[in-house]
Formats: sequence, C-alpha cells, structure tokens
Amino acid sequence: MKEVLTVATAPAVRHPDTGRSARTQFVTLQVLAVTPAARDTITLALALPGTGRSPGTYLPGQFITLAFPGSNTTYYRSYSLCGDGQSDQPWEITVKRQNAGIVSSYIYSHVRPGMVLQASMPQGRFTLPSTLAPRQVLVFVAAGSGITPIFSMLRAIRRLPLKRRPRVLLHYAYHNAADAIYSVELAGLDPERRWLTQWHYVTTNGHRLGVEHLLATVGESAKAAEWYVCGTASLKRCLESALPRHGIPAAHIHSEVFASPTSTRAADPSAQAPGYIRLVDSGAMLETRPGETLLESLERYGYRPDFNCRSGACGTCRLRLLSGRVQNGYGAGLTPEERAAGYVLSCVASPVGEIALAGAGRRVAAYSDTSDNRVSLRRANSRRKLRLGLVAATLGLFATAWGFTNHFPANQANASPADTTSPSSPGFFSTPAGGSNNSSSGQSSPGSIFGQPSQGGPNTSTGVS
Ligand code: FES
Repeated sequence: MKEVLTVATAPAVRHPDTGRSARTQFVTLQVLAVTPAARDTITLALALPGTGRSPGTYLPGQFITLAFPGSNTTYYRSYSLCGDGQSDQPWEITVKRQNAGIVSSYIYSHVRPGMVLQASMPQGRFTLPSTLAPRQVLVFVAAGSGITPIFSMLRAIRRLPLKRRPRVLLHYAYHNAADAIYSVELAGLDPERRWLTQWHYVTTNGHRLGVEHLLATVGESAKAAEWYVCGTASLKRCLESALPRHGIPAAHIHSEVFASPTSTRAADPSAQAPGYIRLVDSGAMLETRPGETLLESLERYGYRPDFNCRSGACGTCRLRLLSGRVQNGYGAGLTPEERAAGYVLSCVASPVGEIALAGAGRRVAAYSDTSDNRVSLRRANSRRKLRLGLVAATLGLFATAWGFTNHFPANQANASPADTTSPSSPGFFSTPAGGSNNSSSGQSSPGSIFGQPSQGGPNTSTGVS
C-alpha cells in the first residue's frame, strides 16, 4: 500500500506588470511567534497578516526566500520551511545566527512578533518521493542547520498512519549539544523507534559522520534506499562521490547545500572583468559589471527574470545560454537534463566575455541607476560598432588589395579575364556591406528597447569603398 503525498504548488503564471511568474511574487507575512530552537537559533512562525494562516501548502523540504531592503541593495536569504506542509498552520522557518551574517543577525536580534516580512512562495526540489511505501527506506544525513528541511519531512511522515510510514534512518551531526536544533522535538518523534532510528554526532566530542558507518546502519537496503543529504558543500561533495562507489545510484541521492549569495559568487578572475549579455529575445546588448551575476545585471537594466533563492539551489532563475561561456553557472538547482540543454543559473553565473541568453523576458522597470546604465549601454553599443567597423574596414582593404593584385587560386591561374566578372566576384566585395546592414538593424534594437534614439549601425559600406 502506497501513500501519495501530493501538495499543490503555485502555478507559473506571469504577472502582466512585473513579468514574473506567480511563484516569484513576494507576499507579506506577519511574524506570529519567535521561539528558541537551539543556541543562537530561533524559529519564526509566519502567517498572512491578521489570519493566523499561511499563504498555502508546500512540499516538506521546500524553502522560502525572505527579502530585506537595505540602504543600497535588497538582501535575499532562503530558509527551509520546517513544518509538515499543511496550509492551516503558519509557516515556520528556523534561523541560526551566523558569524558576520548580516541578515541572520538582523533576524535573530530584531525580528519580533507582529513585524511583517516579505517572503517568496515555496520552492525547491529537495523533497520526499512522490510515493512512500511502508517498506521503503529513507536515509537522512544532516549537518548543523541542514536538519531544517529534513525535520519538515520527518514531521510530514509522522502525519501518516503508522503502518504506512517508511523506515527512516537519521544521521545528524552538530558542533556540540547546545547547537542541536530541535533536539527535544526530534527525541519526541518516535521514542519507541517504530519507524525512526537516529544517530547523533557531536563533533566537539570527536564524533564524525563516516561513509562506512552510514552504509553499515542501512545494511542490505543501502542500494534501494533514498538518500537525503543536507549541510555543507563538503558534506554534499563527499557523499555524492562516495555513495555511488558503493553501488548507490546517483538518482537515489538528493542533496541540498546551505549557501549565501556571496559564497556562491564566481571566484574566477576571468569573470571579474566586464562582460556583455546579448538578449536574443529582444536584441538588446547589456554590459555587465565585474563580478556581477547575470541576474543582477538584468535587474539593473530593468528586466525582472524569475528568481527565488539567489544562491544556486532552486533553479527558478535558469536561463538558456545560447553562445559564450559563463563562470559558476551550474549548481544543485539544475537537473542534468537542464544542464545538457544549455541552461545556466543566472543568480550565480557571471559572463566571460560576450554571451547570448534566451528567456530573460522583457524590460518592465526603469533603470535602477539610469545614468550609469545608459552609459554602460552606449559603451557596449559603441564598442560593438567599433569592432564591426574594424572588421569591415579590414575586409574592405583586403578586398581592394586583392582586386589590385589580381590574385587567383592556383587552379584558376590560367582563367580568362572574363572569369573575374563571374557572379562570385561582386558577391565577394558586397559581403561586408551586407553584413553591415544586418548588424545595423541589430544595433538599433537596443536603442528602441531602452528608449534611446535609434543610433543606426556603423556604415561599414564606407569602409569597403
Ligand atoms: S534563484 Fe534559485 S537557483 Fe537561482
């Protein structure tokens, strides 16, 4: 007998004004309660203002993103929902104060009941299988705050009748006992160990999560089990490489990493130079700032592509890279199929040189920094024109020299003079001009899109003549 957990998610309908899908819309939530969950860690209960109810259901394991407007920028941070997914309850998130963490410190120190916050709708693929069978084995491996989405899944499983619950093994590592999040709640989930067995590792006591030990606890079920890993990037890397070596299919390994936008930013120096984004849907050419992500550039120019976590985890911001190269464009938010199809995660990717992108949508907002962006746009267009002009001039000079010296391929050395007027000759000389016309129309598009006077393309015919 299988129990199907089906939870509706928001449809991807685009808002007529913002151009974003409903799942990217932010909603206003009120803080109902703030309760301690561990040392430096609190749990917030969030609901639609005045209702005590959440905006909707979610899949246990999904997360929301909170937006905090700052003086110069808006800070976005994602937090796993840690309830059991039911809509008649407030949403719950657990926040651990991080050293030097701007947002987590603010939440920990300043957020109180009654305050309102802006939150996205739930997103994420780190969720339970769509069907759960009683004999199925689920292995959860969590480190630190990585317990939060797993706690949500455990609570959802506990909702099922006992005879329908899968067999669950939980391995949870934390620094010391005071850092154990939900320690009381975890102990109360299944004191008789009828469906849940737990191993806790206190790293300051020398306890370590080891692959061999993990496998030994699962026994013969290891290859058929579904494995869920949530914690640091190193834990994810370690298990994603070690488990398949023991015969566990990659498709059975589900992982999520806790990362902040700054920690996922491209570190490669080649992405620290200005780049260019050509938007094939509109023909616009945007110049990016050094180290800026594709999403940040698009937003600066007034585009509003979808996003959620802004840290490479959810895949909401994926755009299709048609040409060129990006740094850091891939992560847990992309499936292997999406990656093979050319998608990149715009919230973490930075262009290397010039790239062509599809799917960014249309410009729906004013420039965030008008003068600067217009300068960037003009500079991008000017440089492009200059490059085209140089290419055309070079071709023109070459063509003229070719005509004066009357060179022919060796197999035409004895051809009659009439051959020089064959249809191919005018075509050779006219190619650059034709190219310039095409480029010219391409160049005018960004001007009209950005409300600039049409500047026309470089007169490359002049260079040819
Ligand atoms: S917004 Fe989540 S992966 Fe980019």
